[in-house]
Amino acid sequence: VVMLCGVSVLALLSGILASGFAEEVRRREFVRIWELVARVPFFSEVGAIAIADIVGRLRSRSFPARAMVVRKGAAGDSMFFIVAGEVEVRIKDRTKTLRGGDFFGEMALLDRAPRSADVVTVTPCTVLLLNVADFYQLAGQQPALIAAIEAEAKRRRMEDVGGGASQTPAS
Ligand code: CMP
Repeated sequence: VVMLCGVSVLALLSGILASGFAEEVRRREFVRIWELVARVPFFSEVGAIAIADIVGRLRSRSFPARAMVVRKGAAGDSMFFIVAGEVEVRIKDRTKTLRGGDFFGEMALLDRAPRSADVVTVTPCTVLLLNVADFYQLAGQQPALIAAIEAEAKRRRMEDVGGGASQTPAS
């Protein structure tokens, strides 16, 4: 009986320790993402409540230079906010450069359509990734945030159809 009691107490203690550890890891990740979000100008116009809501849903990812982040025609499973680095959007016969503070990958989620272009890193990049399920949940809870993303997507669609504002001819 004493042995059994000892084992149960030990199991209880290790359970408490493990959940405390997991909680601390979650808290640190939250603070780390918050710091990254603070560096993305797009979020500076969003209120603190909306930021707190979005921070819990973002994951940070790093890519080396010349990595294909989004492939044209693929299913859209997430959108990306650039924290640092540069990416190149390859649209038909031209390219567009996006950098820290810009976002991409929103069109496939908004249109529920395949990816409209390839997006490739030019330099090593740190991005914040918002997955599709969280994007749709956020659309219900933070309509102003999604409206700002939608407005930029609309501008991009018009630019792509009209072929306007070309930056660099694709090589
Ligand atoms: P999506 O279609 O999901 O994947 C390719 C992405 O390239 C697209 O979302 C936009 O985020 C981005 N994109 C497409 N056209 C433009 C553009 N004209 N300017 C900037 N980004 C664009």
